Amino acid sequence: MSAKLFANEDTIDALIVQMSIQQKIGQLVQTERMAVSAEEVAQYHIGSVLSGGGSWPGDNRVEDWVAMNEAYWQATMKPSAARVNIPIIYGVDAVHGHNNVQGATIFPHNIGLGAANDPDLMHRIAQATAREILATGVDWTFAPTIAVAKDAHWGRMYESYGETPEIASGLVGPVVQGLQGALDDDSVAACLKHWVGDGGTRAGIDQGDTSVTWDELNEAHITPYLAGLQAGALSVMVSFSSWNRRKCHGHRFLITDYLKGTLGFGGVVISDWDGIDYLSKDYPEAIAQGLNAGIDVFMVSENWREFLRAMEDLIAAGVVSMTRLDDAVRRMLRLKFALGLFHKPSPALRKWSNSSCFGSDAHRQVAREAVRKSLVLLKNSNSILPLNRSARILVAGKSAHNIANQCGGFTIGWQGVPSQDGLIGSTTIWEAIKACAPNAQFSHAGLGQEANQDLHDVALVVIGETPYAEGFGDIRANDNAVIETGSQVQGLMKVLQPYGQSLHLAQLHPEDLACIKTIVAQGVPVVAVMLSGRPLVVTPELALADGFVAAWLPGSEGAGVADVLFGDADFSACLSFSWMSDEAGTGQARVEAANLFPAGYGLTYAGEVTD
Ligand code: GLC
Repeated sequence: MSAKLFANEDTIDALIVQMSIQQKIGQLVQTERMAVSAEEVAQYHIGSVLSGGGSWPGDNRVEDWVAMNEAYWQATMKPSAARVNIPIIYGVDAVHGHNNVQGATIFPHNIGLGAANDPDLMHRIAQATAREILATGVDWTFAPTIAVAKDAHWGRMYESYGETPEIASGLVGPVVQGLQGALDDDSVAACLKHWVGDGGTRAGIDQGDTSVTWDELNEAHITPYLAGLQAGALSVMVSFSSWNRRKCHGHRFLITDYLKGTLGFGGVVISDWDGIDYLSKDYPEAIAQGLNAGIDVFMVSENWREFLRAMEDLIAAGVVSMTRLDDAVRRMLRLKFALGLFHKPSPALRKWSNSSCFGSDAHRQVAREAVRKSLVLLKNSNSILPLNRSARILVAGKSAHNIANQCGGFTIGWQGVPSQDGLIGSTTIWEAIKACAPNAQFSHAGLGQEANQDLHDVALVVIGETPYAEGFGDIRANDNAVIETGSQVQGLMKVLQPYGQSLHLAQLHPEDLACIKTIVAQGVPVVAVMLSGRPLVVTPELALADGFVAAWLPGSEGAGVADVLFGDADFSACLSFSWMSDEAGTGQARVEAANLFPAGYGLTYAGEVTD
């Protein structure tokens, strides 16, 4: 725990004494930018505003973000006899770079960084990300996700570093340190999420039920938080999921007794997006359950007015104590003081605001290095890799020139780059190949019909998933498990339309196997590069390809893929998730029964990489 978090207790005491009930309650609210104006933030003493995925001001340029944050700040800091001036804090999901904003450096998602497993690289990624966040006047990111994902059916597996706690435990500290640093002008607040057990739900159902013993929860899912808290993380976000059918958002033991008590966490516990709504159909009851369980700040996407009213009634009725309210306020003020927000100038005048570091070449070089270090070589028959730059390469596949598929979810849009927008400053894999291989040819239909063994020495086929986020990425054959889980957890469940019904790539995206078959039928050998948020069953694709690379979701710097394919750098990553040979059930059953490649597997040009 960072000592700076507790360095202003006397000042905070004095502030709390001056604050009205309404000012105190306002500090517990984080609402979405589209639901509140700067004037309302001041009038209702709102403590924090956020951008949900895909929510941006103006033309989504850096200057638009700075102007937005300047307006919120000016409104809350305008001298007033009626209230204590408490600076606003703005939060975003900068989970692989400042990914909401056009032109940002987009790093590989966590699944690839877990395969790289390079703490120094993680520190540099986090530091670059912090500076791009600060360039927009934002001070808080809801990252890192330190879920320990156990089932590839889960739509958020790509946000997890690996299937065991060890990798996340080794990386979370460097990430928190890179984001928060010395808690000075170069710092943003980190947020460990989602507390706790989000990656262990039965059947990989997003927001489902993690049915494990306390020892299993502690060992598998709580362990990474110990390193994150040790590194001084200023906030923790609660999970939508349940533990043994009880919602984490209402779980007093997990939040108050264990996280705040046993682990001594003194920072802010924030709910997930309207997360308390699933505790009860009675909103005041839901608020009371969440607050009394230990949630300090409530992410309330729209109905903040109702929240404020209900809170006043709950305090007046004694359903929520003043002690609990003051403790929640204290924690939010601690976070704001620790970040120096009470002393910083307005967003427009800060050190990094509108900085040219945003999307800079220096940051993109770090991202390109991360891409190189994240790629896992699963097959290299006939030493088809590395490719020769002068070779006649047919580049095919739906994802060879598709920045949305290259970046995945939480990029510009919540569900990925909107097709019409593109991504300023990015390089697709095809663009990277074209830039260094003069005899490369692009298969315009994307499906390899041009293949001809008299014209092509090799084909590079980029395949895999299209973007998704959260429950929209779940895979399930039917809703039976969801219905059963929903009938058992206490509270409500939000269920989204799943990505597909099978982990077999040939069922999810038959166009990929068709493309490989078309090319191989012409006698042209294939190197397959798969862009995906998880391991998939790729038995037929793997059999037909001479080379097979798991590239995960590499982000904006496609050149990192070309670097390794041409041998400028060797493969160095290894799987952080076991790779199934078939859809053998879920959870532990999947991990044990279906290993085509074990976690730790990865080839290099010289031989086999082990963990
Ligand atoms: C989402 C996610 C959480 C994110 C939050 C704000 O529902 O569960 O990871 O930080 O909402 O976008």
